[in-house]
Amino acid sequence: MSLPIAVLVSGSGSNLQSIIDRIEQGVLDAEIKLVVSNKAGAYGIERAKRHGIPYRVLLHTDYPSREAFDQEMVDAIREAGVDETGIVVMAGFMRIVTPVFLGAFENRVINIHPALLPSFAGVNGQADAADYGVKISGCTVHFVDEEMDHGPVIIQAAVPCQAGEDGDVLAPRILKLEHRVFPQAIQWIAENRLEIKDRHVELRVAGRPCAEQPKADIHPSTYALVWPPLEKGF
Ligand code: GAR
Repeated sequence: MSLPIAVLVSGSGSNLQSIIDRIEQGVLDAEIKLVVSNKAGAYGIERAKRHGIPYRVLLHTDYPSREAFDQEMVDAIREAGVDETGIVVMAGFMRIVTPVFLGAFENRVINIHPALLPSFAGVNGQADAADYGVKISGCTVHFVDEEMDHGPVIIQAAVPCQAGEDGDVLAPRILKLEHRVFPQAIQWIAENRLEIKDRHVELRVAGRPCAEQPKADIHPSTYALVWPPLEKGF
């Protein structure tokens, strides 16, 4: 059976699109049961509509507390058919979730962040890294815990940064990698190949062939470093 997932978005939803595309290509064995946006007009909702995926717009401003909003999301996700075998995927969801949410989906919520955690957590990961002047940044997929951008790391991808580049230059370079590592992480969960031991996420080897190593889009000879390596199809 395909892995049932709910995808939470707040904006453009390009990561949602990368998940939809991999499912439609038959390489990601998951089914999106529901897309939830906490922002009216989020383009991610248009993507859900276009692909016939159920969606809900739940405005957090309509709820008296974070907990009340989170409970509403839990109820909507459960009603849509994501049970304890499924996961919740935060794809550009710009909101901290409370224990009400995490307790309902224990160790089954993942997030993507556009920096190499634990550096540059928060809502401006790419710009914060560029402004700091780092030579390498990237993205991180991790399990979500009660601290922001903090839970056990599943996969990271690193790209070079050059002097004078700002967050707007860095963001698309990182986003291209996000679109590869996020569906891969979900597929590992679909295959039940991840185990969390303290903060360490172990990936069970399955002998799958590796994907071609991604280019880092900066110089013809520059590759991104992705670890664990992407498998064929991702
Ligand atoms: C992505 O870059 C994602 O990593 C980031 O928001 C963007 C959403 O883009 N998330 C965070 O910064 C979370 N702290 P998308 O809506 O096109 O997928």
